[in-house]
Amino acid sequence: MYRDGARKSIWQDEIRKFSTENDLSQWFDTVIVGGGITGVSTALKLQESGQKCIIIEAANIGFGTTGGTTAHLNDFFDTTFAQAIKDFGLENAKLYAESGKDAIRIIEDNIEKYDISCDFIRKDAYLFALDEDQEKQLKDIVTGAAQVGHEMMYVNEIPFPIPFREAVRIPDQGQFHPIKYIKALCEAFIQLGGAIEEKCVSEEHEEYDDHIVLTTSKGTIKVKNLVYATHIPPGINVLHFTNAPYRSYAMAFSLKDNSYPRELGYDLCDPYHYYRIQEYEGENLLIAGGEDHKTGHSEDTGECFSRLESYVREHFDVETTYFSWSSQYYEPVDGLPYIGRLPGTKQRIFTATGFRGNGMIFGTLSSQILHDLIVTGQSKYEPLFNPLRIKPIAGFADFVKENAAVAFDYIKDKIFVERIDSLSEIKPGEAKVFRYESDTYALYKEINGTFHLLRSTCPHASCEVRWNSAELSWDCPCHGSRFNINGKRLNGPTTKNLDKIFPFQKK
Ligand code: FES
Repeated sequence: MYRDGARKSIWQDEIRKFSTENDLSQWFDTVIVGGGITGVSTALKLQESGQKCIIIEAANIGFGTTGGTTAHLNDFFDTTFAQAIKDFGLENAKLYAESGKDAIRIIEDNIEKYDISCDFIRKDAYLFALDEDQEKQLKDIVTGAAQVGHEMMYVNEIPFPIPFREAVRIPDQGQFHPIKYIKALCEAFIQLGGAIEEKCVSEEHEEYDDHIVLTTSKGTIKVKNLVYATHIPPGINVLHFTNAPYRSYAMAFSLKDNSYPRELGYDLCDPYHYYRIQEYEGENLLIAGGEDHKTGHSEDTGECFSRLESYVREHFDVETTYFSWSSQYYEPVDGLPYIGRLPGTKQRIFTATGFRGNGMIFGTLSSQILHDLIVTGQSKYEPLFNPLRIKPIAGFADFVKENAAVAFDYIKDKIFVERIDSLSEIKPGEAKVFRYESDTYALYKEINGTFHLLRSTCPHASCEVRWNSAELSWDCPCHGSRFNINGKRLNGPTTKNLDKIFPFQKK
């Protein structure tokens, strides 16, 4: 399977086509745009309820972040219960705590119902503080967890060779193989009569009182409901101002002494490091993640891997590095995901975004919420995760800060674009955004001398793209659209490619 970057994740396996024989002109109850865990789980739930559904995927199933996650299944989150109590009140925080347990239960139910073999296992997680500041954070986390009835126990030992000051054990967490899981869900979905159309780009929708017309690269589709499970919805929406794109890095290593920690682990650094193991071709590998940063805000993304690798080698007896990959996630401004009706639309268009580092959990939970909203018109989680929620206090400072940063990126990149006199100023392997006359361009020169020249203005809302050397992609710092070296769109919210001027080989 393919992913949205040049690197290969540990989950990528053979290319498997899921497209069914589809007549797009027939009537569907619901079209789900996006073939990651959110889209596939939602489509299956709706199909199980008797709906006739179709999944539209711009590339292939698992192309986006589901193929690049580290697939921890934890019911404690990046936004802590203490923070949720402070911003949303105790009762809402209790519901928030319940949501994680519900999500893992949904995964377990699917595994049992469809007899899925996806390396799912329940295990303990350890959260550990490395310094005094982190100790305070940990205390806060444990206090918040106790208030919402979530079990965390202080321990004197952790199964990781990392010096720590304090640590807690959190029972009953889990891990799985995300691609094996969603592929099995796709098979179940098809068995139930569901349709999948891969390599089909959703372009725009028209919403009427009783139906929606979705225009795609393969024709129009008429449906009752539309779900954007595209990580962030396309078009221009208030959600683009309340969610910020981030990149996270993961690597998989073999260890010399075979002393793999069996449990899940997390420190409290900023950004934090996280650990799990995964069997790969009969051998264990340690997967470590971290080094997160805002999309487009690292001068050299290759350095993020170097830093992560050095950190892991400091603590573990690493033998070989097998995989290194990165992926994108969205940070919601008030800390909670947005799952429900798409703001600015009537009643028939839905979305799910802002999962932070808890994509497997909230992607799965979205399937229940969106199913309930579409089939019954309500969900117990609707008030908490409603994309239309207005929390003037929670997240307001961050809202202002994030959008000021987007405006700053926009202006800075427009004004300070370098001029170059000749393409020969670009060295092999280098990439640059530059101005020529009144236009700006993005140029990548391959090691063999081939130039790839694009217009550098993002078709979503006209920010300038920035180079991601680790994934050989052009990333937009404003809302996270990404493109390959030929300008082909890898991630939305844009639905368009960057304008391609040419690729050519210099003699
Ligand atoms: Fe919005 Fe590029 S993603 S301007």
